Order: sequence, then structure tokens, then C-alpha cells
Amino acid sequence: MGFLLRACNRACLQRCACSVSGFIFKKRCNFWRVRSKIKLRTRCGRLLAEKVFMNLFKSLCIDCKTFTPALFLAPMAGVTHSAFRRLISDFGGYGALTTEMLSATAFFRENPAVSPFSRRRECEGPVIYQLRTNGEDILEAAIEKLEALNPAAIDLNLGCPAPEIQKQASGAALFRDFGRLRRVLSRIRTVYKGTLFVKCRLGDASENWRTPFIERLRLFEDYGVGAITVHPRFSNEKLKRRARWREFPWIAAQTGIPVIGNGDIRSLRDVLEHSELFEPLAGLMLGRIAAQKPWIFREFSNLQTLDISYAEVWDRLCRYTVEDFPPEKAIGRMKEFTAYFAQNFFFGHELFKESRRARDIEELRAGAFRFLDVFGKGNPDETLIYQRFIRE
Ligand SMILES: Cc1cc2nc3c(=O)[nH]c(=O)nc-3n(C[C@H](O)[C@H](O)[C@H](O)COP(=O)(O)O)c2cc1C
Repeated sequence: MGFLLRACNRACLQRCACSVSGFIFKKRCNFWRVRSKIKLRTRCGRLLAEKVFMNLFKSLCIDCKTFTPALFLAPMAGVTHSAFRRLISDFGGYGALTTEMLSATAFFRENPAVSPFSRRRECEGPVIYQLRTNGEDILEAAIEKLEALNPAAIDLNLGCPAPEIQKQASGAALFRDFGRLRRVLSRIRTVYKGTLFVKCRLGDASENWRTPFIERLRLFEDYGVGAITVHPRFSNEKLKRRARWREFPWIAAQTGIPVIGNGDIRSLRDVLEHSELFEPLAGLMLGRIAAQKPWIFREFSNLQTLDISYAEVWDRLCRYTVEDFPPEKAIGRMKEFTAYFAQNFFFGHELFKESRRARDIEELRAGAFRFLDVFGKGNPDETLIYQRFIRE
């Protein structure tokens, strides 16, 4: 980590002693009728954050395995490949990482020692392997092969709403089909007694969605599911509408299985401001925000604040990705990551545009550095710099 992240300098050390980085509270002052944004870089803010995580998501124990802290990287197809998980592990602060969904059939054919998706490095620590199946594939063989990798858990994908996945009767379609879901769980449990997680949405949008949801919770209990990650959107919803965090307390109250909350959680502030909704949860899962800020778990688990060099983070992932993927595939993965990473910058659309234009990894790197060398330093006068940047 040494050369990636400069340890906090004196000013930063002061900040460390009394701040939670990027933690902004809106303070309303009624007397002056002004609404001021105050960066809560105070001892009080840090203590509050500490308290939340000391009590809430300190750890999660399932089947005698302890996830410390109870913070999980979400599975994201095209994003949470092995190189990306390696980058996240450079920063730490999570309890387990999740692979992107692995089709049972494809996984069975691949070599996990070299596959850029299922390859696992020691630095990653606990890894949850997510499986996508419809029960018509070589499920048992895939599970046995997965088990040999000593997974922290196997996670069954029951939430993916993508039409091509649902057409194959997996993801959200498997959650919908109660009979098939029961058969799949039964087959999994015949060969696998280890830690089993499931990840789902709320099911299909209807006024009565709670009844089928509870039926599935009972099924998960019957088959010894260790944890349920719920992304509280309906299966027909894309990612635009806000996740329904207000459903977390109800869901957690329906079952003794630990519930991990996911969906639109971007900062510790989100959790603190809605603590009554998050409190009943056993853990949190972060997805897109981890692609934007691969160090985000540090903030959530209250590890020491670091000075981030954006260019170095981008470069490091690029090197990891090129190591794992052939060049023609590496560029696609880096473009996908860059789309999220660009959201760190006010003028990030320029980084996004640069990356879209690139035809090979060298062009991509040159374009990214052209942007990051200028904007990756958090210069306060970005608008001026931007005007110069687009003229060049
Ligand atoms: C690009 C992308 C790929 C995803 N792939 C998967 C996947 O393979 N399996 C899965 O269960 N969910 C997948 N998801 C859903 C995420 O795991 C997560 O539930 C969703 O992004 C909401 O969490 P977030 O707001 O923290 O990103 C994907 C999401 C995105 C944006």
C-alpha cells in the first residue's frame, strides 16, 4: 500500500484525529434561517461513526465463520472480477468480497487458477462465489468444484432482472418460480453443506408482494440459508428508482436469517441518517460506490483516512486487469470501471469521453492520465483548469 497511498501528512493527521472523511452534515440554523453545509470534521462525528459501527456492523457470525466487519462487496457482472477484487483488497475494510455471477455451466468448464473471474488471490481474504443457475445445468458438479475453492460462502443469484438472464429461468425468474427454486435449493443442499447465501430483490411488483416474499423466506429457512442479501427493488425496476430502504425493518422482522441490506448505500451518512431502517440489518453490501471509490470500505469501517491518488488507483487497476485479461478484453473491463470512477470528478464526463474513444489499452491509459494528471489532485479551482483542459 505504501506507494499507492501516501500516509497522512501533518494536516491530514489533524483531520484523522477529528474527522470522518467526506462526511457532510447539513445543519439547519433556524434563527438565521440559513441552511449551511458543514463538513463534519469533528471529533464528535468520528465518535458517532465509530459508535454506529462498533454496535451495528462490527461482525457477522454464520456457521462458525465470522465476517469482520459485516460489510460486503456486491457481485457486479463486468466489474467485480478478480483484478478489481485485488484492488479493493489493497484498501481493506470489508468482511468479504463477492465474485460476479458465475454461470454454473461456464464455471464448470473454466480453470479457477487462471480464470479472470473466479481466480482468487490470498490478499482478497474471504470470497463469496455467486452462482447463477436455473437448475437445468450441471449444478452439482459446479458446486463441488466451487467447494474445492474453500469459499466463504456460495451465493445463489435470485435477483438479476436482466431479460437474457430471466429468459434462461435464472436470477429474478428463479425467485419467481417457487417450485423450481425449491428443487434448486434441494439439489444444492444434497451436495453442499457449507455456508449458503442468497441474494434477491423484493420479487415482482404487486400490492401483495409480501406474501410470496415470506413464502420464499420460509423456503430459505428450510434449506439452511445462512444470510439473505436484499436489494429492495422490484424485479422489473432498473437502478434509477431509489431502493426501498424502508422495507428493511419489515424484512428483517420476518425471519431469523441475518439480512444484509443493499442498494444505493453510498456513504456512512446514508446509514446514520436512516439508522432506524438499517439497525435491524446484520450487514451492508456495497456495489457501485465501490467501483467509484474502491477505498469506500475504509470509510465505512472507520479505518484511518488516506490521501488517495486517483491516478495511482486507476493505474493500479489497469495493471491488475492487463495481468488477468487478454488485451482485447482488458480494455472493456477498464472502460466499465472508468465510467464509475469518473463520477468522482465534477468534470468526469471528460474522463468518460476519453475512455469511450480509446481503441486499445495504451490509448485508454494515455487519455485517462491526461485527465487524472490534471483533475486527480483535488484542485480547488477546477473550473479554470477545465477551461484550459478542453482548449488543449
Ligand atoms: C454493472 C452491474 C452488474 C451487476 N451484476 C450483478 C451480479 O452479477 N449478481 C447480482 O446478484 N447482482 C448484480 N448487480 C446488482 C448489484 O449487486 C447490486 O444489487 C445493485 O447494484 C445495487 O447495489 P448498489 O446500489 O450498491 O450498486 C449488478 C449491478 C451492476 C450495476
